[in-house]
Amino acid sequence: GLPVRIEDPKCVAKTFPDYFEAFFGVAQASRPTPVICIDGPTASGKGTIAGLVAERLGFALLDSGALYRITGLAASRAGIALTEDNAPAIAELIRRSRIGFTPDQRVLLDGEDISLAIRTEDASMNASRVAVFPAVREALLQVQRDFRRLPGLVGDGRDMGTVIFPDAPLKVYLTATAECRAERRYKQLISKGLSANMADLLADLQARDARDMNRAAAPLKPAEDALHLDNSEGTIEQAVQQILTWWEQRQPFAPRA
Ligand code: DC
Repeated sequence: GLPVRIEDPKCVAKTFPDYFEAFFGVAQASRPTPVICIDGPTASGKGTIAGLVAERLGFALLDSGALYRITGLAASRAGIALTEDNAPAIAELIRRSRIGFTPDQRVLLDGEDISLAIRTEDASMNASRVAVFPAVREALLQVQRDFRRLPGLVGDGRDMGTVIFPDAPLKVYLTATAECRAERRYKQLISKGLSANMADLLADLQARDARDMNRAAAPLKPAEDALHLDNSEGTIEQAVQQILTWWEQRQPFAPRA
């Protein structure tokens, strides 16, 4: 039962590039597959930080917000108004849709690349609207749990630690001030060639925070056992390092008492 860490997993790249996929295809976990949950409000840097933590650890990544964005987009495209009455129809639509993530994190809906379409401010607002409906959350529950696979998963969202993976051995609640987050979102949109206005962004972001925190179904709140990380001042790399340090201190690599 000694934990073993492979320091240089890329050493298989030349002779057996999909060694670990093959290995994890036949290996069985002797304890639950680890999950690191990173929850927090919109534009807190979760996506970037979760992606980097997953990459450093060789873990899979679940961008759960993308699933709500896809749902909002699919419903709008199908001409379904995003109302409570339509929640069962929206849930059914998403159950029937083929959702895919490519290894380079492009997002596919029924084979179409919708990576950019789900990142507009409109799509963000629609995602926040459909995320309120319990039927939609229920339809996406197992989809999210299916991302859990060896050697581990990093999940980012709002309810990773509270609802989807309550047994996760590390839960991080990542925050930053609203002004800080609006500024980051502004830069992100501009760099993608999308138009943006600071005042509108701040107002949208505060509206979305309020909706995410006050809804009845799986509201945004820190899990009781979450570690808090304020990312207003520090760099992305500092946040990544902090999470990796916390992970080091957890099982299975924590020094034995
Ligand atoms: O993280 P994001 O901005 O891509 O999320 C888009 C919306 O989806 C957000 O307003 C709230 C919702 N969401 C949620 O309710 N639960 C999650 N686990 C992730 C996102």
